[in-house]
Amino acid sequence: MERRGSFVIKVCSDLESLAQAAAEIFVEQSKIAIIQSKRFSVVLSGGNTPLRTYELLGKEPYRSQVDWSRVYIFWGDERCVPPSDARSNYGMAYRSFLSHVPIPTHQIHPILCTRDPEKVATQYQTLLTEYFASLIPSFDLVFLGLGKDGHTASLFPDSSALNEKVRWVTHVQNAADNFARITLTSQLLNQAQLVVFLVTGQEKAVILKEVLAPIEPSHPLPARSIHPIDGKVIWLVDSSAYPSSLSAITN
Ligand code: 6PG
Repeated sequence: MERRGSFVIKVCSDLESLAQAAAEIFVEQSKIAIIQSKRFSVVLSGGNTPLRTYELLGKEPYRSQVDWSRVYIFWGDERCVPPSDARSNYGMAYRSFLSHVPIPTHQIHPILCTRDPEKVATQYQTLLTEYFASLIPSFDLVFLGLGKDGHTASLFPDSSALNEKVRWVTHVQNAADNFARITLTSQLLNQAQLVVFLVTGQEKAVILKEVLAPIEPSHPLPARSIHPIDGKVIWLVDSSAYPSSLSAITN
């Protein structure tokens, strides 16, 4: 998986400062997008890392800086579990911030998948097609995480979803947790204006070094397939995931 395109690495001292930086990016991007197109489309990531960012967005000083009436929320991926399940990406985001901000309910688009993943993937693609209508399907902001195996969203190594060049939404069966999952494909994610990866913790240092390395790793790393055609990539990382010794290698 060739890593192409430029990116920016912003090293934060800890999770809290990373979450603040991510919330600031959300606010700034929302202002730009709403001025330009009167709406702001965001793709949320699952996992643990973004939780603090979501909590901050539901509180001052960030909450009142966003015109929530113009915000449209989507997900990069979702496990096929009920929203009440602790592993639901929608449930996590709803409990941590969407239930604390005045966003119109019809502008929140969870991937509700309890059975028939193929049907759900097709339905979500239809929803996105209707949202973007005749415009280029370009999200204003995409939050993504990084798994220790180099996955992002639910694009896992060796998954056929990595080679999907037509569909914007597909479904996978993740061997690690045996969940059926719905995921946006790199085909769609690479149309974004801005992709922000949120990566923290020493356990991510090895994979982060591989993903950011200028040289091709021996095995495909899905996160390297995310390089927006006309957009930007910011890696928001903490100093545990990105020790200063790494900077000499990846810059
Ligand atoms: C998910 C995410 C997944 C996540 C990474 C990192 O549904 O869990 O989409 O891609 O971002 O696994 O997860 P952590 O932030 O918990 O390390």
